[in-house]
Amino acid sequence: MAEESAAQAEFSFVHFTDTHVIADATLRPPNGSYELDTAATLQRVLDVIAAMQPPPAFAVIGGDLATPDLLDFTRKWTPKEYEPSYRLLQKQLKTLTCPTYLLMGNHDNRIAFRRVMQPGRTASDEGHYYSFDHQGYHFIALDSLRPGEASGHLEAEQLDWLRDDLEAHRGEPTLVFVHHHPWNIGLKWLDDMKLRNGDDLVGVLQDFPQVRWMICGHIHLDHVSQRGGLTMMSTPSTCFQISKWSQTRKFVAAPPAFRLVQIQGLEISTRVLHLHGDGLDSL
Ligand SMILES: [Fe+2]
Ligand SMILES: [Fe+2]
Repeated sequence: MAEESAAQAEFSFVHFTDTHVIADATLRPPNGSYELDTAATLQRVLDVIAAMQPPPAFAVIGGDLATPDLLDFTRKWTPKEYEPSYRLLQKQLKTLTCPTYLLMGNHDNRIAFRRVMQPGRTASDEGHYYSFDHQGYHFIALDSLRPGEASGHLEAEQLDWLRDDLEAHRGEPTLVFVHHHPWNIGLKWLDDMKLRNGDDLVGVLQDFPQVRWMICGHIHLDHVSQRGGLTMMSTPSTCFQISKWSQTRKFVAAPPAFRLVQIQGLEISTRVLHLHGDGLDSL
């Protein structure tokens, strides 16, 4: 039934990530000789997405959402200190009229995120993972945040939930979103902070041939690689980017970007759009 409706599917969605919104401050990437207003670069992306025709069915925002901690690595930032940045992100996301699905990244703070984005619910530090459906396709958002660590991890409880969710949606083409990349991409300093138990994730996904793609953030660059029947791709950031060739940490002042995914029946295609220039005309 679901496979039948997926065969009729016709929609697009966008994935943008690593928004790193910081209220009332600009960001100077480590070792970077430039400063960035991350809310302003995000706004450029949002304005482009809001003007798209036809509009995307939904937007997925891939983690490292609001990150005042980047202003000072030497101390732990409290949920209260994170809240203004999540409030700014929330206000900016109102630019979009489509539904938004948000993921956690290593710089996020779940308690502050929930206080701002999910008022009325208990603001716990439990994993923020879930799934949703659109036109016969199934989408899964995982939570690889382990507070205080740059690398990611999926605890056993989340992997059990994932297996159950996939079991309940057998036969439905499925895309998985997760902040951290599950296998090496060939840049050592980034691979040192990948999803530490990526093999466990891949092990689960490979039992379910309906899983087509994984889309990640975290590495601030455009990357595609395959393992077995799985394709993993990452989307560049809406703010600063990372060098594709340096084996040591190197940030580059490249333009903001986002990913467009187009689905036509059982065919999926994608491209990354880089916002060269100063506005909508640059696309
Ligand atoms: Fe990031
Ligand atoms: Fe990250």
